[in-house]
Order: sequence, then structure tokens, then C-alpha cells
Amino acid sequence: MPPPPPVTVRVELGDRAYPVLIGPAILASVPDALGRALGELPLRAGLVVDSGAADHAARAERALASAGIEPVRVEIEPSERTKSLATLETVLVALARARLERGEPVVAVGGGIVGDLAGFAAAAYRRGVPVLQCPTTLLAMVDASVGGKTGVNLDLGEAGGLAKNMAGAFHQPLAVIADIDTLATLPQRHLRAGLAECVKHALISADFGDDTYLDWIAASIDAILALDPDAITELVRRSVQIKARIVADDEREEARHGRALLNLGHTFAHAIETLPWLTPDGDPAHAPLQHGEAVAVGLIAACRCAERLSLCHPSLGDEAEAVLRRIGLPTRLAGLPDDATLASLMGGDKKVHGGRLRLILPTERGRARVVDDPPAHAVLAGIGAVRSDRPTDST
Ligand SMILES: NC(=O)c1ccc[n+]([C@@H]2O[C@H](COP(=O)([O-])OP(=O)(O)OC[C@H]3O[C@@H](n4cnc5c(N)ncnc54)[C@H](O)[C@@H]3O)[C@@H](O)[C@H]2O)c1
Repeated sequence: MPPPPPVTVRVELGDRAYPVLIGPAILASVPDALGRALGELPLRAGLVVDSGAADHAARAERALASAGIEPVRVEIEPSERTKSLATLETVLVALARARLERGEPVVAVGGGIVGDLAGFAAAAYRRGVPVLQCPTTLLAMVDASVGGKTGVNLDLGEAGGLAKNMAGAFHQPLAVIADIDTLATLPQRHLRAGLAECVKHALISADFGDDTYLDWIAASIDAILALDPDAITELVRRSVQIKARIVADDEREEARHGRALLNLGHTFAHAIETLPWLTPDGDPAHAPLQHGEAVAVGLIAACRCAERLSLCHPSLGDEAEAVLRRIGLPTRLAGLPDDATLASLMGGDKKVHGGRLRLILPTERGRARVVDDPPAHAVLAGIGAVRSDRPTDST
């Protein structure tokens, strides 16, 4: 039986609107998507490949070649360290050596790191060439590939650490092709980590047309973790729909309660995800945390901080914690540094405005708001709620 046709969500951005195609066996449709978006098939395309998804990328590469499009292939071994200016240069030089021309696109096949890097390369090469995103991790499908944020990390040296996504550009893709078959090779830990972003979407979705997403996730966890195609398609569709609405309303994160809401849990997550000794389950072999694992803990810290400010009822944090635990994500951690160190790491996040901390805090089921300069006692209550032991002396 042929696979069902893909489900499509549109990101409505006027003349830069684009489709997100979600379904099985659709990587072979890369040439069609390019032809539809560009009006004709290009002669060549940059193909930026995630080494962890090389077999999947080979399907896109074969499809390009059979459509008469010559791929200019660059493979990247993704890590937050290789999401760097040096790797960006490698990609740009490969495109320039092949003399890729202005209208010729870049196709990114991989997780969020490769998508962010390839997207930034496309934004910078010849001052901008089109990009097609083909996400192959759950996190990249539901979040990173949609919305046009691209970028790399900056290494600030020993004292400054890694400044996440500190250099980048807004560069919307021509289209997104989320082939759910690629998730079959994704380790379960990555699948669970991607689900943290879906829970985040569910915690802010009520004003964006979906007030039952958290219930649906809670009822569908087993099917999702078993990679049931209908459940995965519905999961990706609902998350992408929410993100698409948010991005359409506030493409460049300029509104107060717009795209910034997607940072729920992230200020805390960014503070802890670069601490190399933290592990999701106490096993040192599992350090460091993955981004989604840090987000899961950050979501609970945000709920408990909001609770302390009487912004939301404790039952919301309890419910979010129960769902995240059933997914198999951490909600409390051992080995967190002391409060002062954590608060200062949170202060280093780029969501700090005018030297003041800015947090996104939940207010009720499915809703959150921006809170500037939250009182220290509430921030510390959030941090305290996700400690499972005494603080580590990090000096
Ligand atoms: N641009 C945005 O709006 C946005 C939003 C959220 C996150 N991000 C970024 O996304 C990045 C995280 O993305 P991620 O979680 O996809 O991690 P990732 O890109 O590091 O990929 C995780 C791992 O999975 C491997 N992999 C990829 N596809 C695979 C597959 N199908 N089968 C097996 N292995 C596979 C990769 O090689 C890598 O080792 C972060 O850098 C974050 O900053 C960006």
C-alpha cells in the first residue's frame, strides 16, 4: 500500500508563507518541494547532512540526482561545540568552492544543530540563498525547523563558556519536510527529549487554537514512544500548528506576549544544559543533559516559580511534572550548583533585558506570560523545587 499523503501545516507569512509537510516516506519529495517553491528545478543544491542521519539524507540525495539536481554535499558531526563559526565557515567554503549560485538552494537534513547551522549558512552565503529544512529528530520537527531562527554558538573562552545561538539570522525556509520515518533510528532518549518541547507547546497553546494538547499528549504517551505513525503525525502537526501561529503573529520576537512565550522553561534550561556533570538519572555515564531534558526541568522550575508568585495554581506544576515523568524525562536533578551560581548563569542568558531577568511563567493551563525582574525569592523557589539533593559547591 502506498504511504498516506503528507499532512500540511502552513506558516502564514505573506509572500514568504511556506508549507510544513509531515508524513512517512516524504524525503524523496525534496526535488518536488524545491520545484514548487522556486518555480523551476535548480541545477544544483547544497546538501548539508547530519552524520547521524546520513542514511536518511542519502534518500534525499538520490531523489535530487534523479531529478537532475547536482548535490553539493557537506557532512557535519553535530554537537553544541561544532555548532560554531568554524563549521559555518566550512559549509560556506564548500558552497563557494562549488560556485553555488544565488538562486540555488541549501537543503538541510538532520537534527536541530544541522538545521540551525545550514539555515545560517544559507542566510549568509551570497547574502542569502533559499533553504529547505528536512528535520530528522523530533525536536527539530516540532520546533527548530519551523520559524526561521538560525544560528551558531559563540565560544566566550574559559570564563564565559558557550553562548548559545548568539550569532545568527532570521531566515525562513522555502518549505519543511518532516519525514516521520526518520525517527525510527532516533535513540529513545532523543525522542523523549523532543517531547519536552511538545509539553512546552501544550503549556502555552490555549491562545493559539489548541486547549486540549496537554490532555492529548498525556493520553498518547505510549503510542508516541512506540512511534505509532498516526500518533507521531498528530504530535508533530499539533506542535507545528501552534508554533506556526505564534511565528505568524510575531515573526521576529518583537511582541511582548508573542514568540517570547516559546522560551518557557528555557532561561533555566540554558543555565544548566552546559554544566557537563549533570545527568538526567544520576548515572554519570548519561551526562551531560540533552537540551530537551534541561527544558523539562526548566518547565517545572517555571511552574514552581509562578506558583510562589500566586500566578498559577500548584496543580499545574503537579500535572506537568506527572506528564514529564511518564514520558521518562527528568523533573528534578542532583548536583545542581548553589543558588548564587545558578542565578548568575540565568542572568547570562540572552533573554535578559536591560540587565534585568525576564522569565516566561505559566498563569493557567495552556497560558503563560512574560514577567520582568521576578523577585529573587520566587526564582529561588523555582530552583529549589527542582533540586533532588543539596547544592554542589561549584567553586
Ligand atoms: N531554530 C530554532 O528555533 C530552535 C528551536 C529549538 C532548538 N534549536 C536548536 O536545536 C538544537 C538541538 O536539536 P536536536 O535536539 O535535534 O539535537 P541534535 O541536532 O544535536 O541531534 C541529536 C543527535 O541525533 C542525531 N540524529 C539526527 N537525526 C537522527 C536520526 N534520524 N536517527 C538517529 N540519530 C539522529 C544527530 O547526529 C545528533 O547526534 C540545539 O542546538 C538548539 O539550540 C533551535
